[in-house]
Amino acid sequence: MIDSDVLDLSGSQYYVCVMNITEAAALMAHRRSVKPANMDADKEISDGLWQTLIGCANWAPSHGQTEPWRFTIFRGGSRKHVAEALQAAYKAETPEREFKQQKHDNMGKYPLEVHAVVAIVMKRGDLPKVPVLEEVEAVACAVQNMHLAASAAGLGMYWSSPAATYGASFAEFLKLGDDDKCLGVLYVGWPKEGTEWPKGTRKPAMDKVVWK
Ligand SMILES: Cc1cc2nc3c(=O)[nH]c(=O)nc-3n(C[C@H](O)[C@H](O)[C@H](O)COP(=O)(O)O)c2cc1C
Repeated sequence: MIDSDVLDLSGSQYYVCVMNITEAAALMAHRRSVKPANMDADKEISDGLWQTLIGCANWAPSHGQTEPWRFTIFRGGSRKHVAEALQAAYKAETPEREFKQQKHDNMGKYPLEVHAVVAIVMKRGDLPKVPVLEEVEAVACAVQNMHLAASAAGLGMYWSSPAATYGASFAEFLKLGDDDKCLGVLYVGWPKEGTEWPKGTRKPAMDKVVWK
């Protein structure tokens, strides 16, 4: 339980809240990964919603204001190119004895089941004092912002990061610079009619805290 005093921010000079903490917490708990198979590939996502999603991502924090998040969005016919690039990357980077035909087939299938595939990219800034790890962390914050906004709108999203998305072959497909890194892809689409919003589960939060 949170002490109700902690929630009373009205006396703070920094109280500029646009939603109360209960609404914010509810949104975080509501954010879910929706599987590509449950997405409607054809249902349009408006330009306005795309701008909101990217705008939310852009509010992520970054050390040194490097703002390293970049997104390449594939829609319509270009989804086929991602599908082929993912399959090619999987083939190129998987030792023969580990190759799984099912996985290969899924990589070709998922991009066509969804409305859009968003390649998540960390563009390395020119501030060497900022460790690469922190640039990656900033991009993850941006993705979380976008995913929260998507869930608020009822839009499905799924972060998928097969090893193929981290490798040289997919980086070349995305025309990344030497120090940039793809961090996976987001599958995006409205849930098909009749699809239930997935339920989430988490182990108890307080088990993950050490109080000193
Ligand atoms: C960095 C990152 C990478 C992920 N990569 C994969 C993945 O490759 N395959 C997958 O099935 N899910 C992946 N996920 C999604 C998780 O499976 C999902 O977030 C988790 O099951 C919790 O479900 P929820 O998002 O609905 O709370 C990834 C999530 C994160 C944050």
